[in-house]
Amino acid sequence: MTEEHTRPLKFAVIGAGPAGFYAAAQLLSGKAIEGEVRVDLFDRLPTPYGLVRFGVAPDHPKIKSVIKVYDKVAAKDGFRYFGGVEVGKDVQHDEVASRYDAVIYTTGASHDRRLGIPGEDLPGSVAATDFVAWYNGHPDAKDLTFDLSSKRAVVIGNGNVAVDVARMLALTPTELAVTDTADHAIDALSNSEIEEILVVGRRGLAQAAFTNPELRELGELEDADIIVSPEDVDLDEGSKNWLNRDGADAREQKNVDIATEYSTRTPTGKKRKIILRFLASPVKLIGTDRVEGIELVKNELVADDDGWLSARPTTETETIQTGLVLRSIGYRGRPLPGVPFDEQRATINNLDGRVIDLQTGDPIPGLYTAGWIKRGPSGIIGTNKKCANDTIAELAADHQAGKLPTPTDQSDIADLIAERVPDHVDYPGWQRIDAHERALGEPQGRPRVKLVDTDEMTKIAHQTAGATS
Ligand SMILES: Cc1cc2nc3c(=O)[nH]c(=O)nc-3n(C[C@H](O)[C@H](O)[C@H](O)COP(=O)(O)OP(=O)(O)OC[C@H]3O[C@@H](n4cnc5c(N)ncnc54)[C@H](O)[C@@H]3O)c2cc1C
Ligand SMILES: NC(=O)c1ccc[n+]([C@@H]2O[C@H](COP(=O)([O-])OP(=O)(O)OC[C@H]3O[C@@H](n4cnc5c(N)ncnc54)[C@H](OP(=O)(O)O)[C@@H]3O)[C@@H](O)[C@H]2O)c1
Repeated sequence: MTEEHTRPLKFAVIGAGPAGFYAAAQLLSGKAIEGEVRVDLFDRLPTPYGLVRFGVAPDHPKIKSVIKVYDKVAAKDGFRYFGGVEVGKDVQHDEVASRYDAVIYTTGASHDRRLGIPGEDLPGSVAATDFVAWYNGHPDAKDLTFDLSSKRAVVIGNGNVAVDVARMLALTPTELAVTDTADHAIDALSNSEIEEILVVGRRGLAQAAFTNPELRELGELEDADIIVSPEDVDLDEGSKNWLNRDGADAREQKNVDIATEYSTRTPTGKKRKIILRFLASPVKLIGTDRVEGIELVKNELVADDDGWLSARPTTETETIQTGLVLRSIGYRGRPLPGVPFDEQRATINNLDGRVIDLQTGDPIPGLYTAGWIKRGPSGIIGTNKKCANDTIAELAADHQAGKLPTPTDQSDIADLIAERVPDHVDYPGWQRIDAHERALGEPQGRPRVKLVDTDEMTKIAHQTAGATS
């Protein structure tokens, strides 16, 4: 065997969310690639886990237990973590690519989609992406403030993020107190004056993207009634056909059943109300210096030739007073310098995980992608496992076929990073942050108290045993 064949293969995975960890796991598993493999996992933040830490709702702690799986990956031989290192800023794509046999981008989609309506940029009009990042203690969102003094909040969108946001606005101080919601958000949400949370879907109940447990949970809140009008559960013919179509998703009928039960409930006088409204779209946000209201247009459903139902505006409009509009209409990926980007889909330009050159249409040797930045912003944590495994299967096939490029720079990226980001955080450093946060949470009966400042995180990460903060 030549030296080339005996040397370890080196892979860089950029983004330490679920997709990044599942890609690293598969590369290190010995199932896809034989022989010695080394994986360096990078994240722009000191903390790993992506949206498991900064997306998943704080009142859903069980879902976050998936991090145990990721910690096992990090404990494997050949794994290194470079936290606090942003590819495209601290180190460039070419500097990474030249040192590895392949690079896998798993950078997620953390930005917001726009409604494109007048008034969208008024204060009081908030992207759910920002609100979620804020209550979850994302360092980028730590200085945001939200005015929660309005009696009514309007949430636009019918996905699970809209449900998370509505529920977080409805939780009581007691419900919040036992979570790892960022302290600044617990303070603000506990003093919120919001009494009504109106969740608005552009299509009908049968087309809502919520999953059943999430919709059900809205009916089980300690101090919020759920309200659905009987008209909204009285489905039009198009929706009935939709539910009975070939290959219909059982989740949709179940959502209708859950909401139908809600429509029979009498409000019990709880402090807050969550109202679900369907077949309405925002036309404009009204206000001079800040949001004072929202104009909604009533929609009707129209089927295309394939039976797909879209929302079409009617001429019927109404204005609703509100000081807070949360736009929860989906996340959006961002381009990375030096990496081909499909602007329309807002994903890295790829075919089955192989990154494709925009000019030639050919795969770029040694460049791959997985997770939300490959597929777009949909799917639960587990979806990213299959997605990452599929990508690694393509990578392994390319390796078998001798199509992976040989690294042109034999130096260790750790030396470059030591120069550029001397206080970057390795996995033991993250584990010190983790232990610190858990210790802060323990006396309060909380899973952790999140640090929200990267300087503070870095300081804790570099503390030697026995030192105090
Ligand atoms: C609000 C919300 C709640 C959710 N709740 C649930 C839930 O309860 N259950 C469930 O199963 N799924 C949930 N999901 C879905 C789940 O979080 C996603 O499927 C999953 O996180 C996507 O994984 P990813 O690795 O592609 O992206 P992410 O999780 O976004 O990870 C991407 C990582 O890349 C890093 N990064 C970005 N750019 C760079 C760069 N240039 N250099 C280095 N690092 C970079 C980011 O810091 C981040 O850590 C939720 C999603 C959202 C938005
Ligand atoms: N507990 C959990 O498991 C959990 C929690 C949170 C998130 N997630 C997952 O994370 C992913 C992202 O969730 P998400 O809620 O951001 O996205 P999503 O599920 O794609 O929902 C987006 C919603 O926004 C609506 N929308 C899009 N453009 C709109 C516009 N211009 N005007 C009005 N409404 C518009 C969509 O309506 P149309 O259907 O009409 O397009 C849809 O109702 C999903 O896969 C979700 O399941 C899971």
